Amino acid sequence: MKMKPYEHPEPLYPYEDWSLGEKAYDDQNNQRSESVFAIGNGYIGMRGNFEEGFHGTVGRSVTGNYLNGFYDSEPIVYPEGAYGYPSRNQAMLNVSNAQIIQLRVEGELFHLNSGTIHGYSRELDMKMGVLLREVDWESPAGHRVRIKIRRLASLKHKHLAAIHYEVTAVNFEGTIAFVSAIDGKIAKQETTDDPRLGAGAAEPSLILEEMNHSEQFAYMKQRTRHTRFALVTAMSHQFAAEAGYELAEKMEDERITVEYAVPLLKGDRASLTKYISYHTSKDYAEEELQGRTGQVLGQAAETGFDGLLQEQQKFLDRFWSRADVEINGDPALQQGIRFNAFQLLQSVGRDGVTNIGAKGLTGEGYEGHYFWDTEMYMLPFFTYTQPEISRALLEFRYATLDKARERAAVMSQKGALYPWRTIDGEENSAYFPAGTAQAHINADIAYGIKQYVMATGDTEFLVSKGAEILFETSRFWVDLGHYNPAKGGAFCIDAVTGPDEYTAIVNNNAYTNLMVKDQLIFAHQTAEQLRNEYPEAYSKLCSRINLTEDEIKGWREAADKMFVPYDEELGIYAQDDTFLSKEKWDFENTPSEKYPLLLNFHPLVIYRHQVLKQADLVLALFLLGDKFTLEEKVRNYNYYEPLTTHDSSLSPCIHSIVAAEIGDLQSAYSYFDRTVRMDLDDINKNVKDGLHTAAMAGSWMSIVNGFGGMRLVDGTLAFNPVLPEQWKSYRFRIVNQGALIDIFVDGDGVQYTLIEGETLTIKHKGQSLTLVRNEPVRA
Ligand code: BGC
Repeated sequence: MKMKPYEHPEPLYPYEDWSLGEKAYDDQNNQRSESVFAIGNGYIGMRGNFEEGFHGTVGRSVTGNYLNGFYDSEPIVYPEGAYGYPSRNQAMLNVSNAQIIQLRVEGELFHLNSGTIHGYSRELDMKMGVLLREVDWESPAGHRVRIKIRRLASLKHKHLAAIHYEVTAVNFEGTIAFVSAIDGKIAKQETTDDPRLGAGAAEPSLILEEMNHSEQFAYMKQRTRHTRFALVTAMSHQFAAEAGYELAEKMEDERITVEYAVPLLKGDRASLTKYISYHTSKDYAEEELQGRTGQVLGQAAETGFDGLLQEQQKFLDRFWSRADVEINGDPALQQGIRFNAFQLLQSVGRDGVTNIGAKGLTGEGYEGHYFWDTEMYMLPFFTYTQPEISRALLEFRYATLDKARERAAVMSQKGALYPWRTIDGEENSAYFPAGTAQAHINADIAYGIKQYVMATGDTEFLVSKGAEILFETSRFWVDLGHYNPAKGGAFCIDAVTGPDEYTAIVNNNAYTNLMVKDQLIFAHQTAEQLRNEYPEAYSKLCSRINLTEDEIKGWREAADKMFVPYDEELGIYAQDDTFLSKEKWDFENTPSEKYPLLLNFHPLVIYRHQVLKQADLVLALFLLGDKFTLEEKVRNYNYYEPLTTHDSSLSPCIHSIVAAEIGDLQSAYSYFDRTVRMDLDDINKNVKDGLHTAAMAGSWMSIVNGFGGMRLVDGTLAFNPVLPEQWKSYRFRIVNQGALIDIFVDGDGVQYTLIEGETLTIKHKGQSLTLVRNEPVRA
């Protein structure tokens, strides 16, 4: 569907370059704000819940604390099951809540719906990695306090978060009390019909085993109902005030409470620093959990909150020195692109055994599952800004390769089939037409490996891990497909679903076949490379996985004979064997409230039509750009774009990139605009359930690959930048083969500066340019 130019609505949060903030509090949109003000460090994710809880009478709150990769696994009940359906569902758990600090002022509890608010502000500072809230509150009895609360999830220390809570008595002399707690009882989320949310567990998933405190910290030990993982949530405190304080502790009803009461004179200040840690037996032996808790909290107390802030800033300085994108001339987009990069960092697992969920660590939409979103959307952002994170993401695939092998066996295939959605590597998709049938995830992972290795030169990864993934998934393809006499002996792949989930279980999805072809050629080349350059590792690998030379030849043959459906008359690739013969969707008579179609029409109604949820062939035009001429790109784009609803948030960014390439800058701009502001403008009206991580990463691609025109051609970075007329200039940075380049585009052209590395050869509009460190080149 043609995108109209995006009109920015009244900002939900004021535009700021390096922060997201609000100057007034709004009950009605609280749940949405809890998602955008989330903090995280790739392991711990905390929604932006208030320390004192939500007391609004309108609006809602979802208290959310998540640990990347930590899940329980409920049985899936199918009224009509079939062989090979996943029997259990993994869902990222909402864990014990340690954000709680209540404040009592002369006996009255502070919250935003009581007394008088004289001043309020909240700010997510993206340079400092800290969430700040300031409230000037007068209790119903007239006692006025100034409250300043800062919180962070430490980017340096995986298991640590901290809250610094400071109170000043403005107009009274009396007692205040900080009541800090861990609450182990997690309220169940409301159930809805929205398939994007997931079913939720019937019974509490975490069972309390122990509450206790040592001298140093208080902790709660719980166990997941089905997976039997142990979780230790702990807190320790540092208290600062002029006068002596009274301490009271309580443990009851799955809640540990520590209370600090202190007398204040007018103008006095008291502060509580709370250190929070989470450790689970998924990461460590159970008997180590308490010892590790003690170490983390002990170190945190030594470092202190200010020390943690400094560490946080140092981490982020490095992050931004690579990941920042400047857009000069549009504050809304400037804020959007930084917010997206920041939230991606906050959600991404960096330990090689976790990954990045479709909603990151900000909410329970899609149950915390990891999808193909990682390789196709998130990976490029990390590969070109923080390659070590990309490696960790790909290592996750290696860590789950055995499960992918098991899954292929269940599907009666050789090799490995990665799950469509998962947390620990098992297939979690209960609706196979839009799940397991999306076997393209195998080729997407292979593509991610190829791009990562080409961009970084990390052959060590390829040799030690990547090749095995590639070989096993290639094996799967050759076994899955067949040489079809009805298509002149071409290699066909039947009964799969491509990226477009509005068309399911088709033969020869063009995207899939093109991507598999690319994978098989790469796998064949990799085998050759390893055989020549790493013979020992290669022969070990071949004997371990019983790989024969004949099999490897078979990959090349399947690639060479791959069938790709093409319509001569239209001069375009057909999305699959039957797509072009279906009736076109009646867009004219579909009112806007019927979108997204998936919430308003039975899947079969949708499947019968030419209508797309998201970029499918258009995605291939971008990913495999060198396989199409410009004319082909124009024709294919012009055919599929009007049929695309963009009901998936993964769609607009890809359209933006291809529109930019074919010279339709207005459309490119509109698509980019709505991707980059997707969450901050709450365009899909579901930010309350969590942020759209793939779209956030896609907005980075829209700038770098779209307007910047960046492609990796035979291992060389090529740029073809254009400047949208709405902007004065823009700038981004790219890490490539250990070098760091700054790309600045303005009305006069482009300036490339090599910031790290001695020299690097790139291409600018097809011409080779050799860059030398610190010598900017204008082009
Ligand atoms: C999209 C998928 C995507 C999933 C998770 C769905 O709506 O169609 O392509 O993987 O969301 O983001």
